[in-house]
Amino acid sequence: MQDKVIIIDFGSQVTQLIARRIREAGVYSEIHPCTSDPAAIKAMNPGALVLSGGPSSVHDAGAPPLPKAYLEWGVPILGICYGMQILAHTLGGEVSRATDREYGPAVFSALGDCPLFDGVEHKDRLKVWMSHGDHVGRLPDGFSRIGSTGKVENAAMCDPARKIYAVQFHPEVAHTEQGARILSNFLFKIAGLKPGWSMSSFVDSSVKRLAEQVGDGKVVLGLSGGIDSTVAAVLLHRAIGKRLYCIFVDNGLLRMGEREEVIGFLREHFDLNMKCVDAQKIFLERLTGVDDPEKKRKIIGHTFIEVFDREAKAIEGVGFLGQGTLYPDVIESVSFKGPSAVIKSHHNVGGLPEHMNLKLVEPLRELFKDEVRKVAAELGMPENIIWRHPFPGPGLAIRVIGEITEPRLDILRHADMVVQQELRASGWYRKVWQGFAVLLPLKTVGVMGDDRTYEHVIALRIVDSLDAMTADWTRLPADILARMSSRIINEVKGVNRVVFDISSKPPSTIEWE
Ligand code: XMP
Repeated sequence: MQDKVIIIDFGSQVTQLIARRIREAGVYSEIHPCTSDPAAIKAMNPGALVLSGGPSSVHDAGAPPLPKAYLEWGVPILGICYGMQILAHTLGGEVSRATDREYGPAVFSALGDCPLFDGVEHKDRLKVWMSHGDHVGRLPDGFSRIGSTGKVENAAMCDPARKIYAVQFHPEVAHTEQGARILSNFLFKIAGLKPGWSMSSFVDSSVKRLAEQVGDGKVVLGLSGGIDSTVAAVLLHRAIGKRLYCIFVDNGLLRMGEREEVIGFLREHFDLNMKCVDAQKIFLERLTGVDDPEKKRKIIGHTFIEVFDREAKAIEGVGFLGQGTLYPDVIESVSFKGPSAVIKSHHNVGGLPEHMNLKLVEPLRELFKDEVRKVAAELGMPENIIWRHPFPGPGLAIRVIGEITEPRLDILRHADMVVQQELRASGWYRKVWQGFAVLLPLKTVGVMGDDRTYEHVIALRIVDSLDAMTADWTRLPADILARMSSRIINEVKGVNRVVFDISSKPPSTIEWE
């Protein structure tokens, strides 16, 4: 069986990064809240534990404790920041209260020749990232100091006999030099794990697991053409073949040519069992006269469920609902508050499973977005699917500002096509997070030949982002903007002005509605 590391989450903002770094080193890792039952964690048979950082002081009433059970079964442990302090506190050392917080870079000197720092270059003056108040004042019995910084004498400690190691700094953040090397030393030299996690091993084990989970049942899955649902579908297809029923709902709010592109591609390359439901009419009818963004979202959400439900019920004997839920949806950074705060899975299709009485199958629930992209490549998907920009569920409805009508959708669709084409032709498509056009609910005066015009305005929204939580407008070269503008004004009937949105998020958002 493959080696696994469990990260006990004490609520750090960067706990997810620990999981990512460990996976990048080739070892599968999962995050579990510090309120988990230690017996359940032990039953998962991890090869090592990592205790994350967290916002508490061990002296706070209500500070999350470290169950002694973790220290008793001999599993190798790495404590990071709060993880180090709670180790010291629990094992009889002393944690000194902070007089001030240390946040930012520090210079760390490794002492002695602890395997944690094997092969780390210039380990006597390593730049590391600190974010802490308290620090360990006195080491617990059996521990020795293995590193200091100017401010913190006990900046790293270990008890090799029990295989417990701890650092005050954050090896998981990019600002810590050679942090990946330090984590790898813990995984391979100290805990003796073997790297076995890769995307091809994921594909094989996931297909096997899905086949077992579904047995001889049938799965229905809503395919949007986005990478998550597409990869989920292809994995399920490998596992159960034609017993996977994919449903693509055309809600009339898609981009130019999207339906043909998605369906054509999937049928041709993967031979999926796929049904395209033309529901444009019902969506557009229900959206008539609606200009409030939240009302639009609700109508679209409910109508989708209705259409999808009807189609799913028409499949005889379907028992499972497939979904492309990702790992960040499954865990939350606040998971240390306990299991009740942890799960927000299937939030994307709120209500679907309960309503439909189907069991969930989520092939991607262990993966981060970049890992899904790697799986897609492993499955032989082309670049244009792997690097597709995110596209909101409500589609163009939230980009036609104000009332939605067919002619207004057509204008937006055409302008948006120009934006997509120019981004791709200039090589910028991969470099930006999202790029699209928005149709504004106003007309302005222009001049064409000798005539006055009074026509629509298109806004261009092109942003850089890492996770859509924050975003900044892309400094796109002026000549590309110029080409987009002149093509839209020349080619899209009814538009005589193009503007470029130069707001960042926050305080703006990526979408206009
Ligand atoms: P905002 O506009 O909140 O968007 O900055 C952040 C990201 O979420 C996408 N988005 C949505 N996706 N349903 C979706 O599935 C929605 O209602 C929705 N609203 C925004 C948006 O495209 C961006 O990637």
